[in-house]
Amino acid sequence: MSTEAFSGKVFLLITGASRGIGRQIAITFGSLLEEDSRMLLLARDKNALEEVAKLIPPKIKVCTINADLSKATKTDFERFISECLCGTPCNAFDRLIIMHNVGALGNITHTTNKMLDIDTWRQHYDLNLFIPAILNAVIMNTFDDKTIKKMIINITSLFGIQATKGYAYYCSVKAAREMYFKVFALENPDVNVLSYAPGAVDTDMLNFACEFSIDSETKEFFHEIRKITLTPEQTVNRLVQVLKEQKYKSGDRVDYYDKI
Ligand SMILES: NC(=O)c1ccc[n+]([C@@H]2O[C@H](COP(=O)([O-])OP(=O)(O)OC[C@H]3O[C@@H](n4cnc5c(N)ncnc54)[C@H](OP(=O)(O)O)[C@@H]3O)[C@@H](O)[C@H]2O)c1
Repeated sequence: MSTEAFSGKVFLLITGASRGIGRQIAITFGSLLEEDSRMLLLARDKNALEEVAKLIPPKIKVCTINADLSKATKTDFERFISECLCGTPCNAFDRLIIMHNVGALGNITHTTNKMLDIDTWRQHYDLNLFIPAILNAVIMNTFDDKTIKKMIINITSLFGIQATKGYAYYCSVKAAREMYFKVFALENPDVNVLSYAPGAVDTDMLNFACEFSIDSETKEFFHEIRKITLTPEQTVNRLVQVLKEQKYKSGDRVDYYDKI
């Protein structure tokens, strides 16, 4: 298995790095990076981000920025990246890795005929699709040097391909985000793009879904899911394996449960 996926000086950005899967991505990926690599961790909870940063080896420079990613703008992202670079030119890095991990379920008590409020729709799509797309474009324009190897990972979900009652906000936005990254992959053949579905992982998000899903079929689905729940470490180790093996085609989706 190749270690090429993480070699050289890496600039790694992770959204939603304070808890759950994103926190584990920061810890696991941080342990694989070479000296003078740099990490930019984004989420709202400043203290939690700082606790995550303490778990990264000191040879890696970690920059934590607390921000509400449902409201961040192009200018905010330019500033975050510039703060993290702190004068270092982009081409000092051999590799760029972006983890679009941030995600939220939205209101899971609404069935489709109750989805009448445009602001609720907009807020959900802002956090889960529109603002990740803007972040992606900002970072591509910033790291536009062709010599920097680039890998973009979109954390997707089974629900991006499996319709589930009570989850129209979440299912639709996950499907759209995956398609956005497929188009991005076609337009940018020099960038390695993966949509990774992490399986059912024991995090706040899964606990919320198990507790608050209202439809009886969906409740039963989550009851069954509980029996096969993964730890964040298990799913992130699998992601590392997928990245090292490189058996997917850029733009593809790989699920934790796929046999590669
Ligand atoms: N857990 C699962 O079983 C599962 C299954 C399939 C897919 N996924 C996907 O995996 C990804 C991570 O999920 P998870 O289970 O780790 O979720 P989680 O435990 O709820 O963590 C979500 C992360 O996103 C951050 N976040 C949420 N809203 C934010 C906002 N407005 N601004 C900035 N950061 C925000 C949170 O940090 P702050 O609260 O500090 O802001 C946290 O770090 C998501 O894309 C999710 O759809 C999860």
